[in-house]
Amino acid sequence: MSVLAPKNDLSISATTNLYCLFGKPVSHSMGPLVHNMLFNHLGVNSVYLAFEIDDIKKGIESIRTLGIKGVSVTIPFKAQIMEHLDKIDDMASKIGAVNTVINQNGHLWGCNTDCAGAIEPLKEAAGAVTGKNVCIIGAGGAARAVAFGMKKEGADITIVNRTPEKGIQLARQTGGQFLPYSFLNTDNSFVDIGDSLKSNDSVMAEDSLKSGDGDNVHKKNLLPKELLHNFDILINTTSLGMTPNVDKSPVDSSFLHENMTVMDIVYNPLKTQLLKDAEHAGCQTVDGLAMFIHQGAAQFELFTGVKPPRQLMREVILKKMAEKQ
Ligand code: ATR
Repeated sequence: MSVLAPKNDLSISATTNLYCLFGKPVSHSMGPLVHNMLFNHLGVNSVYLAFEIDDIKKGIESIRTLGIKGVSVTIPFKAQIMEHLDKIDDMASKIGAVNTVINQNGHLWGCNTDCAGAIEPLKEAAGAVTGKNVCIIGAGGAARAVAFGMKKEGADITIVNRTPEKGIQLARQTGGQFLPYSFLNTDNSFVDIGDSLKSNDSVMAEDSLKSGDGDNVHKKNLLPKELLHNFDILINTTSLGMTPNVDKSPVDSSFLHENMTVMDIVYNPLKTQLLKDAEHAGCQTVDGLAMFIHQGAAQFELFTGVKPPRQLMREVILKKMAEKQ
């Protein structure tokens, strides 16, 4: 039997375990395809279904009522779900988001596999990240998962974000420093901030670099543009470059150099403008599918205790993406 075209012969019985996705919308999700393929491939007596729901509290009740074994959580419930769980692991608490719920005999435990999903492929590409200069573009949910994962690995973190307040907050929480978004590129067409804010955020960058205010803001006597050339790893966590804006990149290509590893969490398209520029500059690259697959693999392992074959997951997803085009 080809696993790329699984037969419709899941042996559903009275003892089949149910796993779910809760979110809104969910119709585009690859979760059901990937998890069911893995159950089938590995002979696990389970099914995975996607549920588009409006009320996460009722979703939680259904986990308890129906004995659902595990749940993937996506937009818009990753933060909302936390108050309804019995236990939340440390990393998910720090990130402020849960993407996986495990039902341990009625005790609901929340964790976050986005973090491992980003860190593992980067370590495969760049080796150990301890002590490396890492630039994270963005300060939203994905950036928080990447940043706290990098902090745990002992990386030296710089957050770059369009909205300075959010970027500075994440930099402080992760013992890193903040640089304003406008320093990363020379193409102002996609810097969506007003002139007044631009001049303000320059000041913040200088303050961030020079101050020793006890907030773990690094005291580096480097000008921001020089600093940018020092990064070993650069990760885009924003949606810039996503279809249909495929010619956009958050970083001017002059900042990319051959000793850098560049990761983009955008996977539609797979090769974003940032990754094209990075390849051209001789960087190691990690595409957005790698994070998606690693976080899904970590989730599958939490669900079943089995490490799934990641290359197979990638093949199945790539085939589906090609069919959709
Ligand atoms: P997610 O949970 O997927 O990370 P999010 O919480 O909405 O999504 O965060 C999106 C990130 O991308 C934010 O850091 C956002 O910057 P702001 O904090 O300034 O909103 C960033 N982002 C989104 N669109 C952007 C754009 N056109 N230019 C620059 N940054 C952008």
